[in-house]
Order: sequence, then structure tokens, then C-alpha cells
Amino acid sequence: MIRIILLGAPGAGKGSQASLIKDKYGIPHISTGDVFRQNIADKTELGKYAQSFMDIGELVPDDVVIDIVAERLQKEDCKGGFILDGFPRTISQAQSLDKITAIDYVINIQVDFSLVIDRLAGRRACNCGEVYHTSLYQGVFCKRCGGLLYQREDDKELTVKNRLAVYEKQTTPLIEYYKSQNILFNVDGNSNVEKTFEEVQRLISGN
Ligand code: AP5
Repeated sequence: MIRIILLGAPGAGKGSQASLIKDKYGIPHISTGDVFRQNIADKTELGKYAQSFMDIGELVPDDVVIDIVAERLQKEDCKGGFILDGFPRTISQAQSLDKITAIDYVINIQVDFSLVIDRLAGRRACNCGEVYHTSLYQGVFCKRCGGLLYQREDDKELTVKNRLAVYEKQTTPLIEYYKSQNILFNVDGNSNVEKTFEEVQRLISGN
């Protein structure tokens, strides 16, 4: 059983690491951001509601997000563990999660904010959750599922700046929160994806 939370600023590489962890350890990748983007693509009521916050880089209200995660964690595929990417993002979300499940590792991916604007400007995403960077892959289709890649609306520079400010204010208190529970582990997100993943694997295998 491996129950993981990935913490980190926008563009730290949470989605990239989640994809590798999922493949290596066979546990589902649950990204609240992906859930909202799928709902936006499907034009659901939830999608319309979430979009009004996401487009300006603000957080979707806690109660909505908590219900989604609580329901998802009850699914059969989470019995052997899971990776939470982008949740929790506030102390209130973390306290709600504590009532639902224990967590083994909170992996905090540390990245210099100066790298983030470029990473997000060059990001191309797929609806299956895969992400690429134009400096490394110039194709228009996803290598995993063949889906058409797209640029996220909230990756514009001004919105990214607000997402970083929101992260600092609302999400960084979680670092102390999980440190005090002795389950916080820092990894360096400034190097390349593979190097960061080596650190993540060492952590999970206890070496
Ligand atoms: P969400 O989708 O969770 O976005 P985020 O947290 O801002 O994180 P990102 O997905 O932008 O970055 P990432 O760390 O996953 O980086 P990635 O691996 O893609 O949330 C979006 C919005 O949804 C929020 O603003 C909010 O409105 C709402 N929301 C979601 N969850 C919520 C919640 N719990 N509560 C309330 N609202 C919520 O990498 C980025 C790029 O860099 C890619 O191009 C990648 O190829 C590249 N890259 C990654 N790692 C490296 C590396 N080590 N070296 C070089 N390039 C790298």
C-alpha cells in the first residue's frame, strides 16, 4: 500500500512525476486539476463552475473539491494506494482528507519560481493526464494515448503569476502541517524529470 500526496508549486512537476510513479508502482493518479479540465471539456455544470476560478488562477472552493476526492478514493482501484496530485491545497482540505485516509508520503517537489513561467508556457497537455514540454517533444499527439495535445488556458503568464501567489498563500502552510506529522519529504524539482524521479524512487523504496 503506497498512499502519496504530491505537493509543489504550479509547474513543479507534480503531474510529470505522478505519471512515472503510476507506471512504476501501478497505483492510480488522481489529479483534481484533470478532473476539472475533463468536466470543462464535457461542458458539465461542475466544469462551468470550476472554470470561473481556474481561468483567473484561483482555487475552486474547498467543499466541491473535497467531495470529488472523497468519492474517488472509495473506488476499487485505490485499495492498493494512490497518488494525489493537486490535492490537498488548503489546510481545510488536508483536515478533511485526514478523516478519510492515512497517507504514507507527502512528497514536496521544490522548484525555483524563476523556472515555472517557462515550463508552463511550453507545456502541452493531453486529456489522459500526460504532459510534455515543447523543448523536448514537438509532436501534436500524445505518445501514451494518441490524443490531441493542447495548451492550458491557465498557463498564460499573468494567470501563472496569480497561481504562484495563491500557492504561496494557501498551499505552503501544508508543508508545516505535514512536517509536524513526520510524513513530509522534500525532493529537488529543479533538475530534469528523470533525476527527480530517481529521488522519488529512493524515497519510496526507503534507500
Ligand atoms: P492543477 O492542474 O493541479 O495545476 P497546478 O497545481 O497549478 O500544477 P500544474 O499542473 O500546473 O503543474 P505540475 O506541478 O503538475 O507540473 P507538470 O508536471 O505539468 O490545478 C489547476 C487549477 O485547478 C488550480 O489553479 C485550481 O483552480 C484548480 N484546482 C485543482 N486542484 C484544486 C484543489 N485541490 N483545490 C482547489 N482548486 C483546485 O510540469 C509542467 C511543465 O514542466 C511540463 O511541460 C513538463 O514537461 C515540464 N517539467 C516538469 N518537470 C520538469 C523538470 N524536472 N525539468 C524540466 N521540465 C519539467
